[in-house]
Amino acid sequence: MSTPILELRNIRASYGSIEVLHGVNLTVGRGEVVALLGPNGAGKSTLIKVASGILRPSAGQLMIAGRDATGASANALARAGLCTIPEGRGIFPNLTVRENLLMATYSGHKLSDIEQSTYARFPRLAERRSQLAGTMSGGEQQMLSLARALATDPVILLLDELSMGLAPLIVSELYQQVAAIAAEGVSVLVVEQFARTVLGVADQAVVLAHGKVQAFGKASEIGEDVLASAYLGS
Ligand SMILES: Nc1ncnc2c1ncn2[C@@H]1O[C@H](COP(=O)(O)OP(=O)(O)OP(=O)(O)O)[C@@H](O)[C@H]1O
Ligand SMILES: [Mg+2]
Repeated sequence: MSTPILELRNIRASYGSIEVLHGVNLTVGRGEVVALLGPNGAGKSTLIKVASGILRPSAGQLMIAGRDATGASANALARAGLCTIPEGRGIFPNLTVRENLLMATYSGHKLSDIEQSTYARFPRLAERRSQLAGTMSGGEQQMLSLARALATDPVILLLDELSMGLAPLIVSELYQQVAAIAAEGVSVLVVEQFARTVLGVADQAVVLAHGKVQAFGKASEIGEDVLASAYLGS
C-alpha cells in the first residue's frame, strides 16, 4: 500500500481541561474518500480541526504524506496541499461568486482559468457569477466553497458537514461532484450526518462516538447495526 496522504495516530485533543478525543486513529489514502460519521458532540469537527492544524493535539501524531506534521500551523498545512471547508462553508457572503473566486487566485492561477474550470464543474455558478454569494441557495454556496477549495490544487480536502441544511437531492448532486474530485486523485475526508448518502460515495468509513473510534472499515461494509448503536448511543 502506498503512503497515506493523511494519518492521525492516537490523537488526543482537549478544550481547556476537558479531553474530547481520546486516542483516535484514522488514515486517508491517495484519491480515497473517507466518511467520518457519528452523533452530535462525538468530536468530528474537533478531529477536522486537529487534521487541519487549527487545534494542536495534546498527544499523538499528525502525518501528512508520511511526514510528521504534528504542531504545524494551519498555513503550513495549507501550503502542503491540505484544504479545509469548515462547518458553515467559509465563503464571503458579501462578495459575488466571481469575487469569491478571485480570492482563490493567491494560489497562483489566473481568475479566467479558475472561472473556466469552476463553471465547467458547476454550470449553475456560471449563471450566478455576478450574484452576491450570501444570496445564493445553500447548495449553490456549497458548490462555491468546493470550487474555491479546488482552485488551490489541494492534495486532500477536509469537508465538515457538506450537506448541512440542504435538501437530499442537492446533497446527492454535491456528492457526485465529490466522487468526481476523488476520481481526479484528490483525497477527501468528509464529516457527514446523512450516513447513507455519503456511504454510497466513500471508500472507507470511520464512526466516532464519545471521542473514540467505534467502528471503521470499508464504507460498503458498515452495517446498519453499527450506525444505529453509534447514533443511538447504545
Ligand atoms: N471551542 C470549544 N470549547 C469547548 N468545548 C468545545 C469546543 N468545541 C467543541 N467542544 C466540545 O467538544 C465536544 C466535541 O465537539 P465537536 O464539535 O467536535 O463535535 P461534532 O462531532 O462535530 O458534533 P456535531 O455533529 O454536533 O457538529 C462537544 O462536547 C463540544 O461541546
Ligand atoms: Mg461538527
